[in-house]
Amino acid sequence: MINEKVPILHIDHLQKRFGKFQALKNISFDIYPGEVFGFIGPNGAGKSTTIRTILGILRASGGQATIFGKDVFKNAVEIHKKIAYVPGDVYLWPNLTGGEIIDLLLKLSHDQHSVKTYQLIKEFQLDTTKKARTYSKGNRQKVALIAAFSSDADLYIFDEPTSGLDPLNEEIFQKEVLKLKAAGKAVLLSSHILSEVEKMCDRIGIIRDGKIVETGSLEQMRHLTRTLIKVQTRLPVPELSTLPGVHNLTVEKGNFLNLSVDSEQMETIMNYLVQKQIVSLQATPPTLEDLFMRYYDSTNGVSHDGK
Ligand SMILES: Nc1ncnc2c1ncn2[C@@H]1O[C@H](COP(=O)(O)OP(=O)(O)OP(=O)(O)O)[C@@H](O)[C@H]1O
Ligand SMILES: [Mg+2]
Repeated sequence: MINEKVPILHIDHLQKRFGKFQALKNISFDIYPGEVFGFIGPNGAGKSTTIRTILGILRASGGQATIFGKDVFKNAVEIHKKIAYVPGDVYLWPNLTGGEIIDLLLKLSHDQHSVKTYQLIKEFQLDTTKKARTYSKGNRQKVALIAAFSSDADLYIFDEPTSGLDPLNEEIFQKEVLKLKAAGKAVLLSSHILSEVEKMCDRIGIIRDGKIVETGSLEQMRHLTRTLIKVQTRLPVPELSTLPGVHNLTVEKGNFLNLSVDSEQMETIMNYLVQKQIVSLQATPPTLEDLFMRYYDSTNGVSHDGK
């Protein structure tokens, strides 16, 4: 029986060096049962290196990573019986058919071709009779996804799994991940498709230069940022531009205002606007994309990791 309070995956100050280059400087996060954890960050930030370390493919240079309470490197064989993994660039045996490879992958993870496998093949509309060397990128991806979704694991690790999938298949992927979540499984999803992460993930870890710069739910992260407000007031708002927490204010004829507001100053600013008699109001919380851009756009100098 899985204990919901105990993390399935526990990463504590993980470090990884390649010679002189330190790819992972400080990675810490946990994933609990029934949770989808989104792992996002720019190219070269260290997502795949983190994943390859927790899979026991790479040996950490410092810190600790455990799955089911066991060291990921020392107990890799045992741990692998209960994890499923899909990389972004799936390599398949070119002379085997998709169907043969699915069965082989299942066998390697001590699982069997089941009704679930059959349903997934149908859903993803994969022609399993073709040799893998004839498959497109998306089809190779499907082979690995079908094997992963039909294996009985407790932790599912996806490293940019939908990079080659069309929107229809991406939707099937998302549906299957939500089923895993409902079944109490833990999922680590590394992705550049922010709408996917936004839709599916309970918590998100943002990685940059080998360090986790932020972890939390999207709601928690939104507190760090600004909400876009479009508002019309009956009375003029001469003091608004001087209030703390107001940014990018534009005022058009008829008192149509556009501004972005720091979350912590929201109350003061709304109180001020109410006094000016609100005619209409529209508030848009920042999307994950806005957050991502704020963390990564080094040209605007915004940095949230205190550096
Ligand atoms: N085997 C290796 N030897 C040397 N350097 C490596 C090795 N593997 C990865 N790196 C370096 O470590 C850093 C992190 O790479 P990683 O593949 O983890 O990034 P990523 O976050 O997965 O990026 P992407 O979004 O492009 O997949 C990069 O600078 C990369 O060049
Ligand atoms: Mg990667």
